[in-house]
Amino acid sequence: MRLTAAEQRMLDGGDGPAKQKAMAGLVQLGRAFGAERMVEIGYAHIHAGMALYLHDVELMEDLAELGATMAVPSSVNIANADTVNWQATGAPEKLARLQQRAADAQNRMGAACTFTCTPYWAGHWPTWNTHMTSIESTVTIFCNSVLGARSNRDGFFAVYAGITGRYPLFGYHLDENRRGTHLVRVDTPLRSITDFSALGFHVGRIVGEGVPVFEGFERRPSLDELDALGAALATSGGVALFIVPGVTPPYATAAQAFGGRVPDEAVDARRADLDAVYDYFCTRDDGVFDIVHVGCPHASFEEMKEYGRLLDGRRIADGMELWVTTSRPVRRMAEEAGIVRTLERAGAKVISDTCPISCHFARTVSPDPELGVVPPPLRAIVVDSAKQAKYVRDMIRCDTLLTGTAEAIETALTGRFVRHGRAA
Ligand code: F3S
Repeated sequence: MRLTAAEQRMLDGGDGPAKQKAMAGLVQLGRAFGAERMVEIGYAHIHAGMALYLHDVELMEDLAELGATMAVPSSVNIANADTVNWQATGAPEKLARLQQRAADAQNRMGAACTFTCTPYWAGHWPTWNTHMTSIESTVTIFCNSVLGARSNRDGFFAVYAGITGRYPLFGYHLDENRRGTHLVRVDTPLRSITDFSALGFHVGRIVGEGVPVFEGFERRPSLDELDALGAALATSGGVALFIVPGVTPPYATAAQAFGGRVPDEAVDARRADLDAVYDYFCTRDDGVFDIVHVGCPHASFEEMKEYGRLLDGRRIADGMELWVTTSRPVRRMAEEAGIVRTLERAGAKVISDTCPISCHFARTVSPDPELGVVPPPLRAIVVDSAKQAKYVRDMIRCDTLLTGTAEAIETALTGRFVRHGRAA
């Protein structure tokens, strides 16, 4: 790889051990993917340091100890506990305290301690053509597609990119990989944000790591709808970029999005395809469930307003548990607006920094027994997101009931599962 003088100095240790370690990692990554050089990045969404993974928090503390600081604006991905109100999820205090240590390390390194999968709702909004890095696939696909920034689906390397301000030039940083591969004809009206999630899940399964170009939306999708679409595309497939000509930058038409190439495949998305996704994630028909969850990806302020509207003056049924997950910055805005009060009066729990599959419910991690983590026995979770549904099944290993947001909230209010499309 060709390195600039500044990059070589980092690699040689001239800028300290943290930058040296980070640059060495990035050079290794670049060589593995055939990158010829590095690019300067303008933003990094980085690993939190997960309290449920052995020695993971310590990994971030070690970097802070080495003197690492973020060279670019950086936000921090979701964590394993609500660091302020861990009691709400039943997490042991030890786990929350350990998670808080990761926050301390991030603060020392100068990363904004957002602990969220939707840092864009918290003000991290990279602009068109900004090279960036992200550990979270939802962030990668939103920033690539909706904002026109340039990001791969990264892992821990995102931390190294944040420390150096550099990233190897390959993948979605290059123009040639930002063209459409599959034409998707949407042949049904989409009635809810969850319909966008179901659409994304259906299409992601077909296109794999392709770049779908969507046609046929009845109207211009909202930011929340595009967010749900992207999160699900990145879940069932390895999609990192989608295109809605005339809506997402930079293409005005499908022909421009394909850049003169013939699409690999045309994909139809009909109502039956979306219904099949709902059916796939409704794995119980005895009406039994333990928790209703909304807010995946972490809710925007607009979504918080909608939950407030649906719950205003009402009360969830006895014995029901309703979780609303959002980032702490959005929660603060919702507190100012009186929305959190409305939700809590209705009996909902407003939870930040984590989500059902990222908290101590997950059975696929092996926590230190000293943390005292005992995943509760959950039979089923009602969700309004195909992404959450997929990971609830894989990581918590319990049943799921996928439905629309209004129906999920109606479920919590009545205590009976309400199928999508059936809200009053
Ligand atoms: Fe975020 Fe958890 Fe969903 S990390 S995207 S709320 S599965």
